[in-house]
Amino acid sequence: MTPLRCNVVCLRCSLLSVCVYSGTSITQLQAVDPDGEPLIFGVVGEEAMRYFAVQETTGVVWLRQPLDRETKSEMQVEFSVSDSQGVVKDTVNIQIGDVNDNAPSFFNQPYAVQIPENTPVGTSVFMVNATDPDQGVGGSVLFSFQPPSPFFSIDGARGIVTVTRALDYETTTAYQLTVNATDQDKRRPLSSLTNLAITITDVQDMDPIFTNLPYSTNIMEDAPPGYEVRKITAIDQDLGRPRGIGYTFISGNTNSVFALDYISGSLKVSGQLDRENPLYSSGFTITVKVRLKPRCGGFQDDSLKSVFEL
Ligand SMILES: *[C@@H]1O[C@H](CO)[C@@H](O)[C@H](O)[C@H]1NC(C)=O
Ligand SMILES: *[C@@H]1O[C@H](CO)[C@@H](O)[C@H](O)[C@H]1NC(C)=O
Repeated sequence: MTPLRCNVVCLRCSLLSVCVYSGTSITQLQAVDPDGEPLIFGVVGEEAMRYFAVQETTGVVWLRQPLDRETKSEMQVEFSVSDSQGVVKDTVNIQIGDVNDNAPSFFNQPYAVQIPENTPVGTSVFMVNATDPDQGVGGSVLFSFQPPSPFFSIDGARGIVTVTRALDYETTTAYQLTVNATDQDKRRPLSSLTNLAITITDVQDMDPIFTNLPYSTNIMEDAPPGYEVRKITAIDQDLGRPRGIGYTFISGNTNSVFALDYISGSLKVSGQLDRENPLYSSGFTITVKVRLKPRCGGFQDDSLKSVFEL
């Protein structure tokens, strides 16, 4: 048992010393009577009597119930000592010492945040908040990720979460991190855990790509108008919210002998092909452009050379 606090008080010509220990007991009141008469000790007042009992003849003080510093950090307790000639009372100010008996607790849970994938390294994206009602090191909270994350760090003292490595929505769309808040009591640290959900949102950072490359098709010169040469397909590599795609010619559609459906990418014959026409005999090299439908302004294009031979 460690004494939480010792007071020595002087009652006129008497000396009353009070030591309050944590746990079950106690202290002994000490008084000196100049006449050497027997003394009777007591505790005065309702509240004091709820917590303390005093053995009359010895002055031994018992703690009747545990003290909780977080409820009450100080008590004024009046003790009395009397002999045949009178009663002496004095109030002892008892400071309730702290035992680290509270783990940190988090505020404003659950913790969740959405950040764009292009959030730069070094950006602070969140702050967790925990407090511990204990005093001193037992009430000083230290944060950490458990286990540590390569992508995020947390400031030990302030709970600020920072990006430490470039994020990529196409690789990872969400992180579930465990935050450990621990107090810094050396003997008996207490800790609490909570989750932090970080969701990565997509940013349009990828070009569209053509699928099924290369496109090389042979067609007969007598293919009639409306004949589908082939279908051109492209996809938006931004997987989060892929956008619509439009297909147009850039070059190579000599005399507009082909038609390209903007929506479906279907490439069809639309004029008369003729192998003997020197313009056509070496085939067609058609370049197609893919256009992503704008989401919030700006276009993103990709183009493709597609070779057709007659
Ligand atoms: C933490 O939360 C508590 C309770 O909501 C609030 O009083 C305190 O100011 C917060 N601390 C910080 C650093 O935001
Ligand atoms: C939290 O971190 C502290 C200090 O590193 C550690 O002692 C404690 O075991 C951790 N808490 C949990 C629940 O893992």
